[in-house]
Amino acid sequence: MADTFDLFETMRTTRSMRRLKTDPVPDVLLRQVLEAGTYAANGGNMQSWRFLVIKDPAIKAAAGAFYRKAWDEVVGPRYRSGGPAPGTTPESFARMLGAAEHLAHHFHEAPVWIVPCQSGPRGSGASVFPAVQNMLLAARALGLGATLTTLYLIHEKEAEAAMGLPDDMHSYAIVPLGFPTGKFGPVRRTALENVVYEDKWGSAYKA
Ligand SMILES: Cc1cc2nc3c(=O)[nH]c(=O)nc-3n(C[C@H](O)[C@H](O)[C@H](O)COP(=O)(O)O)c2cc1C
Repeated sequence: MADTFDLFETMRTTRSMRRLKTDPVPDVLLRQVLEAGTYAANGGNMQSWRFLVIKDPAIKAAAGAFYRKAWDEVVGPRYRSGGPAPGTTPESFARMLGAAEHLAHHFHEAPVWIVPCQSGPRGSGASVFPAVQNMLLAARALGLGATLTTLYLIHEKEAEAAMGLPDDMHSYAIVPLGFPTGKFGPVRRTALENVVYEDKWGSAYKA
């Protein structure tokens, strides 16, 4: 299925899918998503990433409580008091916040989480996030919804303890994965001209 999908169309429609069905994700699909993650660029090809797959409802409930707490107490109020993101309307931004709140309150109900990890001191995640993006694209190509989430890191230690990570291991995201309740659609972004310069900082890209 994945190789019949146009890559650019896949990228254009890989949105955060925050409303998920509770139906299990077949292991054959989950494996494809994880394998796509391991195709990613990574420093020196050391492949120092580790991916924890969590399906256990008790672990998701325990760790998910810290995601919800971070959303309810910090991140939700912060977004609600600010303006819409570039390239979005107040209405579409409000819909995104509604979906983000839904995810926060149903985080533990996603049938599976993928938790990208790396040992050693917490770094930039530069050798982990390319794998995450590959997995988001693979999920989209397979009809699965996913969201890159990090806001639980406000309660990093508690959430990582709830997920049973060893002391020297850090998580860089939690990606809740499942079949989406809604339809995939195009991402909303500001125009290229607003973010690309040519030769001189601030000078418009001409192509
Ligand atoms: C580093 C990073 C952290 C993010 N953390 C969260 C998060 O904790 N919760 C969430 O709902 N979305 C999170 N997102 C998803 C962004 O909100 C989303 O990509 C952005 O709003 C654009 O929307 P789209 O992915 O639907 O195009 C994160 C994205 C990135 C790149």
